[in-house]
Amino acid sequence: MANHRWPILLLIVVVLSCSPFFGHGYDFAAPGGGTKTAYLKVDASGDHHPTIPSTLFGVFFEEINHAGAGGLWAELVRNRGFEAGGGVAPSNIYPWNVIGDERAVKVATEPTSCFANNKMALRMDVMCDGASCPAGGAGIVNPGYWGMNIQQGKSYKLVFYLRSIGPVDLTVALIGFNRTKKLAAQNVGGVFTGWTKREVVFKPIMSDPNASLAITSSHKTVVWFDQISLMPLDTYKGHGFRADLAQMVADLKPGFIRFPGGCFVEGAWLRNAVRWKETVGPWENRPGHFGDVWNYWTDDGMGLYEFYQFAEDIGALPIWVFNNGISHTDEVDTTMIGPFIQEALDGIQFAVGPVNSKWGGLRATMGHPKPFDLRYVAVGNEDCGKEHYRGNYLKFYYAIKSVFPNIKVISNCDYTDPSTPTQDPADYYDYHKYTTASDMFRLRHQFDTVPRTGPKAFVSEYAVWREDAGLGSLKAALAEAGFLMGLEKNSDIVEMAAYAPLFVNANDRKWSPDAINFDSYRAYGTPSYWMQTFFSQSNGAALLNATLDDRSSAHLAASAIIRADPATGNSYLRVKVVNVADDPIDIKIDIIGANIDSRFASKKTEITYGGDVMAENTFEEPLKIKPVETELKNPSSKMGVKLSAHSLTSFDLLLPKGGNVKQSRKTGVLS
Ligand code: AHR
Repeated sequence: MANHRWPILLLIVVVLSCSPFFGHGYDFAAPGGGTKTAYLKVDASGDHHPTIPSTLFGVFFEEINHAGAGGLWAELVRNRGFEAGGGVAPSNIYPWNVIGDERAVKVATEPTSCFANNKMALRMDVMCDGASCPAGGAGIVNPGYWGMNIQQGKSYKLVFYLRSIGPVDLTVALIGFNRTKKLAAQNVGGVFTGWTKREVVFKPIMSDPNASLAITSSHKTVVWFDQISLMPLDTYKGHGFRADLAQMVADLKPGFIRFPGGCFVEGAWLRNAVRWKETVGPWENRPGHFGDVWNYWTDDGMGLYEFYQFAEDIGALPIWVFNNGISHTDEVDTTMIGPFIQEALDGIQFAVGPVNSKWGGLRATMGHPKPFDLRYVAVGNEDCGKEHYRGNYLKFYYAIKSVFPNIKVISNCDYTDPSTPTQDPADYYDYHKYTTASDMFRLRHQFDTVPRTGPKAFVSEYAVWREDAGLGSLKAALAEAGFLMGLEKNSDIVEMAAYAPLFVNANDRKWSPDAINFDSYRAYGTPSYWMQTFFSQSNGAALLNATLDDRSSAHLAASAIIRADPATGNSYLRVKVVNVADDPIDIKIDIIGANIDSRFASKKTEITYGGDVMAENTFEEPLKIKPVETELKNPSSKMGVKLSAHSLTSFDLLLPKGGNVKQSRKTGVLS
């Protein structure tokens, strides 16, 4: 039998070598011998290049790994309301601690706060007086989330509530790591017979990324504290987001942001799932909650309003995921799902309702009378297989469509998965993928053959993980790049995609890898973070056909777009190629239907690292693996370029103004 194949193979070789695709006089190296050569044909001819959805590449923010509490939300005090015990006395006051021994100070939690939703307050008895007190006084101290980043030249606002028996004379101070240095201090004195709000602005005289907040007294006193908040005044767009982390997200130019989870939305148990109404309104009155999937307390400073605000600030469309009455362990029966449906409807009204509606009115009082641009909601997370999901989902779907017909609804059921066949109405279906590098690279074809009708795909979580990824490897990033090129190609049916998770505070790593690693004062992107920057220009661009020769497509993936640069009014043809092979590859790129302006510099951007595919960035070497830009000399529509082993490369080729590429009626991006 095998012998009969030879004439056919010979015929294929003859036909291929005569085809226009291989007819440019390029050498085609024999597989496995010498320098490998690949061929890529990019077709920019014609008028109707499809438009990549402006939402295709976005981000997914989950409250995991202290992404928000101790991360993006810039609050420096951890457990600011002494509520981390869940509102039961004695509460859990971690990481608050005392300064002074048991003869000098004692503390206790009592449910006597002026805040109705979070009754716990801290009573502090200072028993020492004058010389019997430790130097600097006795009191309480909070190190925040593994140290507070206090910087000279910046300002920090302390807000707290107190009540006392008799006069108090307190020192509120930012103190250095070893507690010997005061970075900033102020005196707060008086008699506070009723709960009183005090505000102090610190201007530190020294910097320390590992500082703490201390409240001390050198006099006998009895005083109660509650809701102690310390925020930098310098936050992203003045809205309370840690500036460096917010900027890193904004730099990805995400088309959307999905939030707040993930499993965080479900909870291990329903009683611990996030309930949005407890995360809105004045921060002092938010009870906070224990996220029992990722096992930490959050004060919910970053609540539903802040998520919508952040989406607006980074120019991304918000996608709100709400609990559908299902946790990891317990479920609400479909016959009793009504209250959850009302909660979801109220949450949508909170975002888009008029100011004279109940929840739209609350949004207005919080500072945003104009509706947020909420267009999508997701009914739960990864719940399709659960007993009551399908029943609950339908009720949510019809209720939402009847009150908010323009809101698009995302189902947890994969409409292309034969094991969960469904005809239920949906605008999108959620697709999550965590896998090996080779499988992720293979999945660039996942959507090639799915039906073109029915709900579109929302790839709301993807990442290479485990052995191939470590804490964020180049190997993982390259395979993901291949996957994303497949999504670009299939963006008629895939409208949105996001890497997951977005953030990790390296002091409490619950899940690896993550796109952005940070601690109290540093942050860096993993190769997967930088990989995403190669795709941020694709949102809204015109997609071109990019075809690799068959032999190369085993270890290469490629895509091509035309994008307009609003800053210069120029249009660029961007070709991206990922090489997952161990060897460099010469690639001949043949662009038809477009003249490249060779008079002006075009650009090559590459991410690679000397062949070490498991290389990672670290706090010590945060930019070891990052995109490197070089000028591309002599760009032309027939180019031969070298791709490094294990690399992702993009070529941005300037198109002549008013050149020969026709405007696409659909995109309007070409000139
Ligand atoms: O991204 C981490 C987790 O992975 C998400 O919470 C969950 O949706 C998925 O299983």
